Parts: sequence; C-alpha cells; structure tokens
Amino acid sequence: MLLNIYLCCLIFFPQKQKMDLKQEIERRRTFAIIAHPDAGKTTLTEKLLLFGGAIHTAGAVKSNKIKKSATSDFMEIERQRGISVSTSVMAFEYKGAKVNILDTPGHEDFAEDTYRTLTAVDSVIIVIDGAKGIEVQTRRLMEVCRMRNTPVIMFINKLDRESMDSFELLNEIEKELKINVHPLSWNIGSGSSFKGVYNRYENKLQLFFTEDRQRDESKSIEISNLTSSEIDKYVGEKAAAHLREELELIEAIYPVFETDKYLKGEVSPVFFGSAVNNFGIRELLNCFVEIAPHPRPSVTNVREISPFEPKLTGFIFKIHANLDPNHRDRIAFFKICSGVFERNKAYTHVRLSKQVKFSSPNAFLADKKSIVDESFPGDIVGLHDTGNFKIGDTLTEGEKLNFKGIPSFSPELFRYIENADPIKSKQLAKGIDQLMDEGVAQLFSLKVNGRKVIGCVGMLQFDVIQYRLEHEYGAKCRYEGIQLYKACWIESDNKEQLDDFIKRKYTYMAIDKHGRNVFLADSPYSLQMAQEKFPDICFYFTSEF
Ligand code: G4P
Repeated sequence: MLLNIYLCCLIFFPQKQKMDLKQEIERRRTFAIIAHPDAGKTTLTEKLLLFGGAIHTAGAVKSNKIKKSATSDFMEIERQRGISVSTSVMAFEYKGAKVNILDTPGHEDFAEDTYRTLTAVDSVIIVIDGAKGIEVQTRRLMEVCRMRNTPVIMFINKLDRESMDSFELLNEIEKELKINVHPLSWNIGSGSSFKGVYNRYENKLQLFFTEDRQRDESKSIEISNLTSSEIDKYVGEKAAAHLREELELIEAIYPVFETDKYLKGEVSPVFFGSAVNNFGIRELLNCFVEIAPHPRPSVTNVREISPFEPKLTGFIFKIHANLDPNHRDRIAFFKICSGVFERNKAYTHVRLSKQVKFSSPNAFLADKKSIVDESFPGDIVGLHDTGNFKIGDTLTEGEKLNFKGIPSFSPELFRYIENADPIKSKQLAKGIDQLMDEGVAQLFSLKVNGRKVIGCVGMLQFDVIQYRLEHEYGAKCRYEGIQLYKACWIESDNKEQLDDFIKRKYTYMAIDKHGRNVFLADSPYSLQMAQEKFPDICFYFTSEF
C-alpha cells in the first residue's frame, strides 16, 4: 500500500509540478509603466492596484512617491528611496493573471536603474499627458524598449483637461517614438467638452460624468452598430456625428490591429482616459491582461533559455542600498527567467562560482514585502545581499551562463572625481568600486593621464555618490567639471583604423571598468565627424554589442 502511494507520488507529482509551472508562467504579466514626470504614472499605478484589489485606499502608492518639494534635498530623496524599495515592484491578481508592476524612478532620481528596469520586463505601458504630448524622458526610455522590441501599450491621460487633437497626438507619437500606433479607443472631445471614449476593442461607449469622479466604473453602453441612435442620445448629435467621422478616418488610416505585431513591438495599441477620474483604466487593464505577453525566452551567452525550463535561472537587474549606515546590507532584485525559485535551496552564483542560499527572499505585494517560499518566471524576488552581487549577476542550478541584454547605458553627465582626503584613498577606491557595481553610475579612466571620470544619467547621482562615499565608506571626494557630450564604446574589425582613431583622439579616449575602449565625445559635432571620418569604427551607446 505504502509502496503504491510512493509510486503514485513519483509518477504524478513531477507532472503536477510541470503543469503548475506552465500555468504559473502563462498567467504572469511583468511590466513597467513609463512616463514623463507628472503625466500620471503614480496615479495610474494606484488605480491599477485598486482594481486588482491589492490596495483599498487611494494614496498608498502616492505617499511613497518621491515628493516634488524635496527634489533639491537629495538626502531626503535617499531617505524616501529607502521607503520606496517596497514600491519598486508591486504585484496583484486580476482575472486570473498575476500582474507584476516594476517601478521606473523618474523625476530627480532618474538614473541608470530606470533604464535597467526595462531589461527585466516583458512589456510596457507608456502614459502620455494628452495636453503635453511626447516629452524627453519618454523618448529616452522608449529607445530602450525599441532596442529590445518590447511590446508597448499607450495610455493617453488627462482627457478631462483640454488636450491636443488626437490625430495630431498619434502622429507625434509615431514620429517621436518611432513606433506605429493603433487606437483601440477614441475620445469624444476633451476638457470641458469631454464626453467619454468609444472603445473600439470591445465596441462599447463609455461615458464620462464629472460628478462621478469617485466611482470605480465609468458608465458603459454596448453599441451594436455605429449608426445606433444610442450614441446621439448619450453624447449629443453633433459629437456623435463627429465621432462617426473620426472613426471612419481611423479605419482608413490605421491597418487592422494584429496582436502579433504588438507582441513583436511593431505596433502599439492606444487607449484614452483619465487616471485620476478612474476613467478608461479598467478597459486598459482588461486589454492588457488579454494581450500582453507572459515571460518570454531570454538570451544568454550560451543558449536561449525558455521560461518553461524546470531549472532555475535568473539575473540581478537592480541593487538597492539600505540606507542604515550600521548595516551595509542591500537588496538585490532578482528576475526569474526559468524554473522555480525556492527559499533555502542552494543555487550557483555563476560569477563567483559558489553556492548561495536565501533564507528570507522577499516577494513584493502592492505596498508591502513578504517572505516567499517559491516564485516563478516573471516574478521579481528581493534578495538580502552583503556585497556578493553586481548588476547582471546570474543564479542557476549549476549551468555556467550569463544573460545578455543587461547593458550599461551611455551616460550624458560627466565630472572628474578626485580624492579630497589623501589618507582615505583606499576607502575611496573601494567605495567607488562598489557603487559602480551597484550601477549607481559609470567610471571611466582617461588613457592620457589616468584621471577618473564619473558618468551619470541623472544629476542627482553625483550628490548621492558623494554622500554615500562619506557616510558608508568614510571617504571624501570632490568633483571637477568636464565638458563632455556622450560616452561611446568603440569597436572595429579594421585594426589599423581603430589604432589610428585612438591615436588621434587620445585625449578623449578612456577605458571602462572592464577595460573596454570608450570614446568620450565632447559635442554632437565631434561625434558626427568621428563617425564620418572613421566609417569602419562602430560607435555604441550601450556597453553591450
Ligand atoms: P507621475 O507619477 O507621472 O509624476 O504623475 P502623478 O500620477 O503624480 O500625477 C501628476 C499630477 O497629475 C497629479 O496632480 C495628479 O493628480 C494629476 N493627474 C493624474 N491623472 C490625471 C487626470 O486624468 N486628470 C487630471 N486633471 N489630473 C491628473 P498633483 O496636483 O501634482 O498631485 P495631487 O495633489 O493631485 O496628488
């Protein structure tokens, strides 16, 4: 009898585990919301969490947001960043899907982290302020999505305010973000004349009532046919006629929406709404869980990894320093690419060739963290780290591989970094080294004199580095200005041309942390000239090529 039970377990449990793994993977939607500051990312996140039942009162996420009033006080921002660890990943369940939202820090704390978070998501929602159109931060982040063919859904927000003409806005999106769009909903007016949206995806008219601001749902009317007099009844004859004209135009301009093209990152469906008014959010979420991809295969230096493989693989994409100076511990954010992550199981830390175990891995749920026993591909686990991890580190069940596509991005702000306390030079070197491993900024050493240059993507990082060097490592640094435009990694098969370039541009040549050649262009013009004069040299704006 016992033997029978044992045999049954042997036969059925692996099967069950396989089934569970497949189902768990297929129901995961891991994404990031990107937006220019103030477009409504926090508000949308919060509304999604409310719809998912993960939070019950508005304000939970907002209270963790870096307050605008504090932007000049980086220590305050760092303190708040400590709090916001828990909002780095927010998860909720919706219609059977497990949705993981990864936060992309914006505002003054815009850093490489923001870019790198996009390497850990399977899709993205871009929020655009309907009155402002495309702004610079969105453009920069979209470049990373394009590089990775990440599927993108757009949400045009703040339709309760006077907005740009929607056709003009869509044209601007296509031109500025270099992606084809397809409106799956369409707004009826904006600002004081905003009546609602026509949801082309579900053939529904959603009506906007200003007095209904606090309602969870906008009123929806099913429309069988666009000629239906129901439309006139609810939005008025004039607006109805205008809507019909515009919908006809849409049919003529935009080819039929194909989910496949969205999944390849070739076309982006567009929704209109107003996050603060709960308007258009449910429709966005319904479509998102239906069409957004579950975890996709990942590329490594050895082979492609399917998320459905039973053995665990994954990588660290972000490291968050704990701000308590008495504890030098950090949280490393681990993205699971395949298999099941289990608490207390030994995994191989590939770079260090050693076994590591985690007794209290954190899962993130809405606004709180909790210890988790197992997690699946698409999930992010927070691992307590005492200095073992660098960005890009891999954990496996023994296989030696490294994930591709976790590059460093070309910084745009540069300063010389100097030692301000000669007795502490060792501490300074160690501090800089560790902060660079965390991905706070990048360090370049000039070939000509060995001087060190720090490159960041956000201004605040310089202050953060100086503060942390002093408070965590007891070292002092000072900065000196240097006029540079961009750092480009260079490579060529034409050795003669490469050597000639390095010789001529020697004062602008540096090496990065891994000893690779980097050209520090001082202006767009000098970069352009270099590209024209040395056609056999490739200039890269990310460290991975
Ligand atoms: P962010 O995370 O992208 O920076 O934007 P956030 O959600 O904080 O929104 C920025 C401002 O825009 C907030 O106002 C928010 O209430 C407002 N907002 C968001 N969605 C809409 C919308 O659909 N319509 C309108 N009219 N406003 C919207 P705030 O005054 O800066 O903050 P708060 O005092 O309202 O919290």
